[in-house]
Amino acid sequence: MHPSEKEFADLLDYYHINYLYEPRSFPLRWDGSRVVEMFTPDFYLPEYDQYFELTTMKQNLVTQKNRKLRHVREMYPEVNVQLLYRRDLMRLMGKYGFGPLSEVSVEGTERVLFDEATVQRRVRELGAQLTEDYAGEEPVLIGILRGVVVFMADLMRAMNLPVQVEFMEITHYGEEREKSIDVIRDVMTELKGRHVIIVEDIVDTGLTLRYLLEYLQAKGPASVRVCTMLDKSVRRMADVPIGYVGFEVPDEFVIGYGLDYGGRYRNLPYIGVLQPVEPKAVPQR
Ligand code: IMP
Repeated sequence: MHPSEKEFADLLDYYHINYLYEPRSFPLRWDGSRVVEMFTPDFYLPEYDQYFELTTMKQNLVTQKNRKLRHVREMYPEVNVQLLYRRDLMRLMGKYGFGPLSEVSVEGTERVLFDEATVQRRVRELGAQLTEDYAGEEPVLIGILRGVVVFMADLMRAMNLPVQVEFMEITHYGEEREKSIDVIRDVMTELKGRHVIIVEDIVDTGLTLRYLLEYLQAKGPASVRVCTMLDKSVRRMADVPIGYVGFEVPDEFVIGYGLDYGGRYRNLPYIGVLQPVEPKAVPQR
């Protein structure tokens, strides 16, 4: 019925989880013998004896749904019903496979998360959003090398604004990543009073970004915001503010569209999950 119900159903199908769609209605109010109000949860998972109601709607409708749900719980205490908000669904999809769960047979890619058309469409949306938000300004886009090059090239062309483009390069070393990030190439432009947009390929733990935010804030810009193509928020360790996100990704190693594994795969036009490599057999002497 609703696109998010379809997404949820696809996810259940993908993981071979049985479900029934709207199998049962729970009467809540009667007028004599006539039922005047009832509640019909969207999904039932028989193996878990669990109902799910998806809600992606406006706050006033959510409040109404919550009220109904309270009634169900009071009147049918043996029934397990859970409400899934849009953000819950996003987290689920982020963790267990967002986008078309299609298989491809490209060496190195286990499955495609976002195909080329999907990526391009999303970048255009981000560009349009930035254009609107920075209207009348001339922001400085700062890309963090090297993974960002593909995204940066597309994003800057999707922005209908005068922009300046800069790149920084950093390096990680030592055991404690947090304490051992170093800038090996700094920006050339004076940032004092400028509107800065940090452009990232992916934010994972957020430790790199936390360091960069502090580093760039010290240069006295008028504002600093972050635009990342991918957000692996399930692994976040540092609480960093992210203004613009292309896609949420699951807790897996992703490649393509600038992202590499051992220097390879940056030139793939789509974003996929890296195929786990079989460990090589050690020759016996
Ligand atoms: P963070 O400090 O953990 O947020 O690290 C972010 C950096 O780690 C990114 O800029 C990438 O270079 C790298 N990275 C994290 N996850 C992935 C991945 O799934 N694929 C490729 N690179 C990744």
